[in-house]
Amino acid sequence: MQRRVWVEIDLAALKRNYDKIAAKVKPCEVLCVLKANAYGLGVKDYAKVLGGNFGVAEPFEALELKRAVPGARVQILSSILPDEIDDMVQAGVVLPVIDLATAKLISEAAGRRKKRAKVQFKLDTGMGRLGIKPDEALETMERTARLPGLEIDGVFSHCPMAYDPEDPFTGRQIKRFKELVAQAEKRGLRFRYVHIAASDAINNFPEAYRKPFNLVRTGINLHGSFDPNGRRSLKVEPVLSLKTRVAQVRELEAGTTLGYGRTWCLKERTKVATISAGYADGLPLALTNRGHVLIKGKVCPVIGRISMDYTTVDASAVDDVAPGDEVTCLGRSGRHCVTPDDWAALKGTHAYDIICSLGSRVERRAK
Ligand SMILES: Cc1ncc(COP(=O)(O)O)c(C=O)c1O
Repeated sequence: MQRRVWVEIDLAALKRNYDKIAAKVKPCEVLCVLKANAYGLGVKDYAKVLGGNFGVAEPFEALELKRAVPGARVQILSSILPDEIDDMVQAGVVLPVIDLATAKLISEAAGRRKKRAKVQFKLDTGMGRLGIKPDEALETMERTARLPGLEIDGVFSHCPMAYDPEDPFTGRQIKRFKELVAQAEKRGLRFRYVHIAASDAINNFPEAYRKPFNLVRTGINLHGSFDPNGRRSLKVEPVLSLKTRVAQVRELEAGTTLGYGRTWCLKERTKVATISAGYADGLPLALTNRGHVLIKGKVCPVIGRISMDYTTVDASAVDDVAPGDEVTCLGRSGRHCVTPDDWAALKGTHAYDIICSLGSRVERRAK
């Protein structure tokens, strides 16, 4: 028996995307951001294809990757809490220093565990979310560097506006960050990695992958998607297809209304296919009466409100549709292709939200 809804990950396309990113930013190295189970798509499959330098958000993700890829370099990109530190030091995860207090706790844990803990300074140069404030950066970095048991592995920051190449904020942020790094180096600090660029900056701010930067972090571009705004200088391709099967096909009379809220009324006798996927699987409610799926390469508009487990579509364009037939919700079928970015536009959101919202009963199939 097979699952009713599944997502296919094209690992060859994923590798092509990675190679394109790596070629663009060369000689910078690439850190693959695989947090939240590779944005919900299956971290182990992604990790197999993507080398050994990974970024995650929190400790359980770090441990999962460490187990899946022995020897991988795994870095927590956001924050670390006091009670998480010992296990992370033991596992050899690269930890973020967001303040001196955290640095001291990591140093103490390294002493207890008889390990050297790799740390990177996370500077808040404009994201306003986490990290060391610029006016405290030099002192915090210097005092951290004097603590025992720590290896200073890098310094990084994150940009909130890099999808917009016209916005001056990112340029100012990069400048401020570079000044701080230069001042720290003057005072004798050395960083293995210096990085600020995520996918948006890779596409829009070439200076973010030139000296002194020697690493970029990429997440959404690996999946072949982009921020909805901004320039798309990378030619990456979608890696995922979301598929389901037809549950029932019926000819319904003119005047029949479909689904909750009766939001669609058939104007004429219509071949309606009910497909076995709904918002619990990740189909945005916003596709109601607007989106479409593909059956046998034909466009089938969504008619009626998306419900939790089922969606009704107009299958008039498909000659021989029957229960069990495959339906492409996202991905390519024949001449047509539906991408997470298309759904994002309909929902008024970004592709991250679409990809991260695939439901728990959706089988992940990497091939
Ligand atoms: C600190 C940090 N770096 C990199 C990324 C990856 O961003 P993107 O998926 O836009 O490449 C994220 C994602 O939120 C992040 O929080």
